[in-house]
Amino acid sequence: MRPLQGTMKVGSEGHLWVGGCDTTQLAQKYGTPLFVYDEAYLRERIREFHAAFKATGVSYEVAYAAKAFCTIAMCQLADQEGCALDVVSGGELYTALQAGVDPGRIHMHGNNKTRAELEYAVSSGVSVIVVDNFAEFALLNDVATTFRRQVDVLLRIAPGVEAHTHEYISTGQQDSKFGFDLESGQARRALEVVGDYDALRCRGLHSHIGSQIFDSQGFEAAISRLAELYAYGTSLGLVFDVLNVGGGFGIRYTEEDDPAPIASSIQGIVHKVKDSFAALSLEMPSIWIEPGRSVVGPAAVTLYTAGSQKAIPGVRNYVSIDGGMTDNPRLALYGAKYEAMLANRASDEAAEAWSIAGKCCESGDMVIWDAPLPRPQMGDVVAVFDTGAYNYSMASNYNRIPRPAVVFVRDGRSGIVVERETYEDVVRLDRPLSYDEENAAASSAMTAR
Ligand SMILES: Cc1ncc(COP(=O)(O)O)c(C=O)c1O
Repeated sequence: MRPLQGTMKVGSEGHLWVGGCDTTQLAQKYGTPLFVYDEAYLRERIREFHAAFKATGVSYEVAYAAKAFCTIAMCQLADQEGCALDVVSGGELYTALQAGVDPGRIHMHGNNKTRAELEYAVSSGVSVIVVDNFAEFALLNDVATTFRRQVDVLLRIAPGVEAHTHEYISTGQQDSKFGFDLESGQARRALEVVGDYDALRCRGLHSHIGSQIFDSQGFEAAISRLAELYAYGTSLGLVFDVLNVGGGFGIRYTEEDDPAPIASSIQGIVHKVKDSFAALSLEMPSIWIEPGRSVVGPAAVTLYTAGSQKAIPGVRNYVSIDGGMTDNPRLALYGAKYEAMLANRASDEAAEAWSIAGKCCESGDMVIWDAPLPRPQMGDVVAVFDTGAYNYSMASNYNRIPRPAVVFVRDGRSGIVVERETYEDVVRLDRPLSYDEENAAASSAMTAR
């Protein structure tokens, strides 16, 4: 059996338990598909980041990357645990503010922030805006001037390092839609012009080099390059105090994944910043990070009900569930791998490989290929692990399937943090066909002319 993390365990009756709750009872009470988040484990994950930084004695900030799972309850929890929040859209900013998060603890990202989003961020008083490209300088400066605000900014740099799992590559001229490219000189140019924008105060640099990163080598390679750029910025007279190295800390989805412990990744990052900055006679910056997946990914399990089956002799066994790419598009999007068990028969031997198929009209709507499972029966509760990140936040209404409910569990109690959508919700914004008469009148006047 796979290792069970957080408060998960298998009870003596053979059921999967999380947060002191029997998942089969949760499935009955709330219906399926259902996202179940282990609240204690969420808090533990965040505390690991804080403890790792505190052990090094440096100034730091952990900003939870809300894109991984952005709901009011999650923003509140991250805030209670001393995280700042990284948001990338007006909708995420609205969610964080609705959660009562102090705007002074919110960072705003995005490669194409609209004027309306920048106005919302500036008027709300967010802590920093991460400027992504040259066009944004003038736009943001104009917005800040209109609101008579001085806005703190970081510059997002594409440092020419890409990291995924245990590998990182230097990509030379980095082909990415995000950030000022280092290799081509864009990043230096950005530092040269940022001082021209009176309403902006540049506090430092930001980079995010990838996802599912299993050790600190990629971060370290990026930090060397960023340190030199930081030195260039200070040589221009800019007063910097922040180096944000982004998120991307990896998690174990399957036995193929072997992420380094959070503490050792943070130690690697901190040592590298200390060494690189000392070598350039720079003052130590505050080190900021933006973990998303590593906070929420392993803290949730999705419960589904098993339905129809199809065994193709000598080819494959399929079991279909009552969700799929509408609540977890990650296999369809990038071949992501997961592990599963039957939550109501967690002690039964995994006899065969069963591929877990979604219910959408798409052959690619699969959640797991060839999961070792006991032969599923209709009505079994299928638990898919590590679904806390980029699942609910990427959920859709494809095939007009209502989005699932989300519950948090803790100490034997469960609470809904997102209601299950209803069919009424699915059509809530639809309108019967009718035309705008005012426009019709104007247009026939034009035709008559
Ligand atoms: C700028 C930035 N910061 C943080 C993150 C969070 O990454 P992860 O969830 O892998 O930690 C992302 C993810 O795309 C990102 O683009």
